[in-house]
Amino acid sequence: MLGTEALAGLALEAGGYYVDATFGRGGHTALILEALGREGRLLALDRDPQAIEAGRRRFADEVRLTLVHASFADLGAIVRSHAGDRACRGVLFDLGVSSPQLDDPARGFSFRGDGPLDMRMDPTRGEPVASWLARAGIDEIRQVIATFGEERFARRVAQAIVSARQKSPLTRTAELATLVAGAVRTREPGKHPATRTFQALRMFINDELGQLERGLTGALEVLSPGGRLAVISFHSLEDRAVKRFMQRAAQVDPALKHLPVVPVQARPRLKLIGRKERAGEAEVTRNPRARSALLRVAEKLP
Ligand SMILES: C[S@@+](CC[C@H](N)C(=O)[O-])C[C@H]1O[C@@H](n2cnc3c(N)ncnc32)[C@H](O)[C@@H]1O
Repeated sequence: MLGTEALAGLALEAGGYYVDATFGRGGHTALILEALGREGRLLALDRDPQAIEAGRRRFADEVRLTLVHASFADLGAIVRSHAGDRACRGVLFDLGVSSPQLDDPARGFSFRGDGPLDMRMDPTRGEPVASWLARAGIDEIRQVIATFGEERFARRVAQAIVSARQKSPLTRTAELATLVAGAVRTREPGKHPATRTFQALRMFINDELGQLERGLTGALEVLSPGGRLAVISFHSLEDRAVKRFMQRAAQVDPALKHLPVVPVQARPRLKLIGRKERAGEAEVTRNPRARSALLRVAEKLP
């Protein structure tokens, strides 16, 4: 998504070292590799083992690419251990879930189609949504749905979940989708009534905002001066976190700005590049999911 724009944002140098923090199925990776020369290198991460497996098949002959099954929360350490003495010239994040994750009912992300209520991007660790919903308190469930789904009817949804699980455990996506549809009173045009609840549970179970903060911090640490940070977010909570992170890093540390000489560690570390960008009409027509995507770009300062 926003491939051309993201590539322009990275201002690729043919011989540079880059990181694709969210490999997915390698759409952006392929574009970056096309633009890199023989000396260029790309490190690509994904926390989903299926993504990495598919990537190893697709790019089996590509010597410039290193694929690692890992969360971008650990990006700083991973880049340090792989890049050697090469300067990192750019990091790209394309946040959210991939189409293969959404479209496979067995992963449990989607309210369309039926599957186990899982939603982990990395099924080798953590807890599936079903087991969390079986043990969480009503207030905890309400708070997660209200915070990460911005769902007005979070209380009703939480109540419906807790009454349903007293009869039998909630284990299937279709079951949850029907339950939520009964609890959410308004109908937003073009949106399934369970959209907000599913988004909330997914963000919570994968600790998406916590991982994002750590990933952005790691990227800022490993980028060399003049290196670019490009982030594509998919909904307002993510975009808000990205915007705040970039704005904070683009300012003098407010706690130290009154000192007569601003210490080096309090100086701005990023320069914002351009304005936020949205996908063009042509891309939205091809892929309606691109409608909500937003790109922000910043450059590491010396
Ligand atoms: C929108 S898709 C990326 C699509 C990709 N840019 C492409 O062109 O195919 C997001 C991907 O990021 C991965 N992801 C999400 N959070 C992650 C994290 N904390 N660490 C690593 N990968 C993550 C997901 O597993 C998913 O495959």
